[in-house]
Amino acid sequence: MYVPKQAVSNDELAQRGLDTSDEWIRTRTGIARRHLAGDHETTAQMAIAAAHDALEVADADPREIDLIILATVTSNHLMPSTACMVQDALGAIRAGAFDLNAGCSGFVYALSLAQQAIASGEHNLVLVIGAETLSRVLNWEDRGTCVLFGDGAGAVLLRATEGPAGIQASVIGSDGSGSNLLIIPAGGSAMPATRDTVDQKLHCIQMNGQEVFRFATTILAQATEQVVTKAGWQIEDVALIVPHQANMRIIASASKRLKLPVERFVVNLEEYGNTSAASIPIALCEAVQAGRIAPGENIVLVGFGAGLTWGATAIKWSVAPGEAAAPSYRNVWRWLLYRWAGLRSFTRQKARRMLVLFIRKADHLGRR
Ligand code: UT7
Repeated sequence: MYVPKQAVSNDELAQRGLDTSDEWIRTRTGIARRHLAGDHETTAQMAIAAAHDALEVADADPREIDLIILATVTSNHLMPSTACMVQDALGAIRAGAFDLNAGCSGFVYALSLAQQAIASGEHNLVLVIGAETLSRVLNWEDRGTCVLFGDGAGAVLLRATEGPAGIQASVIGSDGSGSNLLIIPAGGSAMPATRDTVDQKLHCIQMNGQEVFRFATTILAQATEQVVTKAGWQIEDVALIVPHQANMRIIASASKRLKLPVERFVVNLEEYGNTSAASIPIALCEAVQAGRIAPGENIVLVGFGAGLTWGATAIKWSVAPGEAAAPSYRNVWRWLLYRWAGLRSFTRQKARRMLVLFIRKADHLGRR
């Protein structure tokens, strides 16, 4: 996982002139701080940093990756996919790469696709990333949204295995009748950027908080129950639930509906707020690092968000705690591979440019 260094507290937001308070944000959401990207940090950079860690923890070769799926609503650009920049930076020369936009459910959607790509026999090693720079699409004068979100990235590697462990079941769903409830109205083909759209801050997140809240409290429990049934488990068999980190009250409500103690849920939104597609992999990573997940245990990842979308994944965890510890040293070989990837990218760009110049020159001489 990767989160920007800059942490901004609720009090700091109030001190910046926003009509809010630490008390309101904490009691209504559970959020105390959020980490915000610095000027030079982008979704691609954070995704690459998280991918570096995932490759190191899994001791995997980037050249063996078959597919990279980057779940995000804040791609570096509308086009191309940010996943392609990640592929280039990692030197993942065999990998296909694309972005997936399923709102805050994006990571769970991506896991479901990755699992099916592996189960089909087509792919062996798939890198799944959730990364967001939401601070760039927030209206910092809208207290109903800007206090909620933060930036960051998390990544996992999925590998084909013969064992009985790994992803046991997935569910994904969508209800587009709620597409207006959580939306960035402008910047797409329906409302291209104009001076007016910028002036009206239509390139920022708009949310009907109460409607999304109502949807979230129901769907979190429902999606969890569905995936547990699909996996052939009972709800009591679930050792840990890693939910999308939107609001502590939503998680508490799911805990009540599922009749599971709230301690069985991973909660880190106090520190990071809602990082959309990055929230589940960041929470998963922290749970692993804290030793909260043991091999053989059943865990559920569950998300919901813009679309409206939802999704859940049932996993029998198979990685021993030692194997999944935070990377503590730099692997020189992998470091060299990344330097090589940078050089390869640079020379390919230059060669492409020189080829264009050469063709133009030849064309010019031919016409003379
Ligand atoms: O990841 C995507 C999914 N997103 C979510 O899951 C978000 C779901 N929604 C929520 O978590 C909650 O609806 C919010 C946290 C966004 C809002 O909490 P709420 O308890 O639903 O508050 P509200 O919208 O009903 O607003 C209550 C009052 C309003 O004032 P009045 O009209 O009662 O005078 C708001 O203007 O709280 C006011 N308010 C604030 N006050 C201080 C709204 N935002 C703030 C704020 N600071 N930041």
